[in-house]
Amino acid sequence: MTIQLQCARCAAVYATHQVRYVCDCGGLLDVSHDLEALRPELNRHLFDGRLEGAPTPDVAPTINSGVWRYRELILPVMADAIVSRPEGNTPLYHHPRISGWVGLDALYLKHEGENPTGSFKDRGMTVGVTQARLLGAQAVACASTGNTSAALAAYAALAGIPAIVFIPAGKIATGKLAQALAYGARTLQVAGDFDAAMQLVRRVCDELNVYLLNSLNPFRLEGQKSIVFEIVQGFRWRPPDWIVLPAGNLGNTAAFGKALYELKHLGLIESVPRVAAVQAAGANPFYQSFQGGFRERVTLQAETVATAIRIGAPVSYERAIRTMGWTDGLVTQVSDAEIMDAKAMVDGVGIGCEPASAAAVAGTRKLVAEGTIHPDQTVVAVLTGSLLKDPTATFAYHTGEWPDAAYANRPFSVEAELGAVQSMIEEIIESSQ
Ligand code: F0G
Repeated sequence: MTIQLQCARCAAVYATHQVRYVCDCGGLLDVSHDLEALRPELNRHLFDGRLEGAPTPDVAPTINSGVWRYRELILPVMADAIVSRPEGNTPLYHHPRISGWVGLDALYLKHEGENPTGSFKDRGMTVGVTQARLLGAQAVACASTGNTSAALAAYAALAGIPAIVFIPAGKIATGKLAQALAYGARTLQVAGDFDAAMQLVRRVCDELNVYLLNSLNPFRLEGQKSIVFEIVQGFRWRPPDWIVLPAGNLGNTAAFGKALYELKHLGLIESVPRVAAVQAAGANPFYQSFQGGFRERVTLQAETVATAIRIGAPVSYERAIRTMGWTDGLVTQVSDAEIMDAKAMVDGVGIGCEPASAAAVAGTRKLVAEGTIHPDQTVVAVLTGSLLKDPTATFAYHTGEWPDAAYANRPFSVEAELGAVQSMIEEIIESSQ
């Protein structure tokens, strides 16, 4: 056996050439790798060698991509089957002004917004669409708060497979909607929120023979594990103390835990970083469940400026709880005002991210302030999406529509003559000295 699908709840197994997203018992499925068989084959040297290797056309997708470089731990397939842009290889930023604001020396920002379609979803989608092609899918679909639909639309276009995306009408950021349309996906604006669109697409895929590419699909999560693989390899296999990420549908939270579990079991890392999942206070079902010791699965009607994580009934709930156990993880929440101020900080140093991503920075700051993260610890916060995804939120923050904006950079209106701007320019130069 190389890989099989295994139920995260009851451990039942299924073959990977079957189209199946959940177990007969209702549990979610994992792609399960034979870690014992892989152990003698995989080592740090192998992966480091691939980073240095000069790509040739026949192996290019498996070497150039920050996902397929780890293919044995993701989806072992032939190079010519792979649908890749390529994705990954995202930067790990360090900026003293942001670190200082958060209260740490060693804060790093893994910028997943610098993927081909501007979010981490490309890492899952390269694997999901590759698997769709291997299965001979006639069409692919997802429900989305925007980034998944943008990534699906792009990768399906690349593979020549028709894509249908279900989005909550009026509730996704302009940049993401524009991408889905531009990449040619059939775009269905559902009268309802993300959770309603999610329920609908599950039924559509079950009954109409369309392949589902939400993070419910276990192959998507395999690709998203590569964020952690890249972080750890970037730290020369000595992981940071913490990895902090925004949490909505909980696919990434689930993927991060699985990646760390596998790395530890393969002996590729010695210590396991703690994973902190950050939710928006108005979309915090996982936070509430965590507070209650996971005795009860909370669902709610979600509302937040961070539309990417405006989710009240997260799908990967059980798999994400497992991450908390494997990594001694925790869940925190931040307000919309905290999210937008953190975003303004990240934007203001020239890096930039979308609101949901800034929740990771706001959450880190909060965990430092309350003493959970110590100032001498090393932290990686994952920026999940690009600044350009949501111009409306950014514009609103800087133009006064956002009442609590602490770092607003308001535009000025001036006459088109030198005298009108002279004093302003002098003031700018003076204040920067
Ligand atoms: N950050 C961004 C920018 C996202 O787009 C998402 C999810 C998340 C964080 C949360 O990740 O769902 O794995 O917990 N966006 C999905 C979408 C739901 O449809 O694009 P998660």
